[in-house]
Amino acid sequence: MPESRELPDYAIRNRAAWTTANANYTADHARDSWMKDRIDWGVWNVPEDEVHILPDVRGLDVIELGCGTAYFGAWLKKRGARRVVGVDITPAQLATASTLNAEFGLGLEFIEANAEDVPLPDASFDLAFSEYGASIWCDPYLWIPEAARLLRPGGEVVFMRNSTLQMLCSPEEGVTQDRLVRPLKGMHRLDWTDEKEEDSTEFHISGSEMFQLLRKSGFDVVDFRELFAPDDAEDHPYYKWVPAEWAKRWPAEEIWRARKR
Ligand SMILES: C[S@@+](CC[C@H](N)C(=O)[O-])C[C@H]1O[C@@H](n2cnc3c(N)ncnc32)[C@H](O)[C@@H]1O
Repeated sequence: MPESRELPDYAIRNRAAWTTANANYTADHARDSWMKDRIDWGVWNVPEDEVHILPDVRGLDVIELGCGTAYFGAWLKKRGARRVVGVDITPAQLATASTLNAEFGLGLEFIEANAEDVPLPDASFDLAFSEYGASIWCDPYLWIPEAARLLRPGGEVVFMRNSTLQMLCSPEEGVTQDRLVRPLKGMHRLDWTDEKEEDSTEFHISGSEMFQLLRKSGFDVVDFRELFAPDDAEDHPYYKWVPAEWAKRWPAEEIWRARKR
């Protein structure tokens, strides 16, 4: 795997946070996800068969930006994607992904790189994808144009992130509240510090800013969904920032799909 180019401060913080997350949770749970044949979304595993937002991936060249343990890329390969390349900055996450890739024999490729600056040629993919990867850990003003660069005309970007409403109800520390706790105006970079967790940095811009950014980057938005937790959902054992009861009442997650002109 090639060396990362120079990383911004937040990518270095996030790499440390994801090295810890790999040791504490993801490495032990990734195999269960790789084993599944069903595609599902987010913290509460909402089935794609209910959401119907993904394009038909058969024969497509796919790049997953912030692939983590790459279970989503594995699902897309099982659905017939021709090529799946996972990009991530955290060696520990890529090591888990590579071990499972060897075990399952799916032939994914991995690159250790910042998803805002991917060392691959223009117009090499049909689908750029992120589920809580670049979509929340990278600056949208960098990664969305980078996704556009990597895609062929007619190619699509599909990504899941926390809903804007959920971000507005997320305090500096502790779980999501049932009231607005931060302004939407100017929301962009969010630096999280928590004595119990690693420091990390996320990005979130409003829905209208995301819409305009996608348009300016050469995309037409073709779909947008807000996901609720299912009625029988329980709090996630590791991703505890949104109580299931909150997410049953308000959408905690959203998915965007946009097509490059
Ligand atoms: C929630 S995980 C991705 C989940 C993914 N759906 C999976 O299959 O595991 C977030 C990942 O984003 C990666 N990440 C964070 N900042 C990044 C950046 N600037 N470039 C690439 N990957 C990044 C982290 O290393 C981490 O592995």
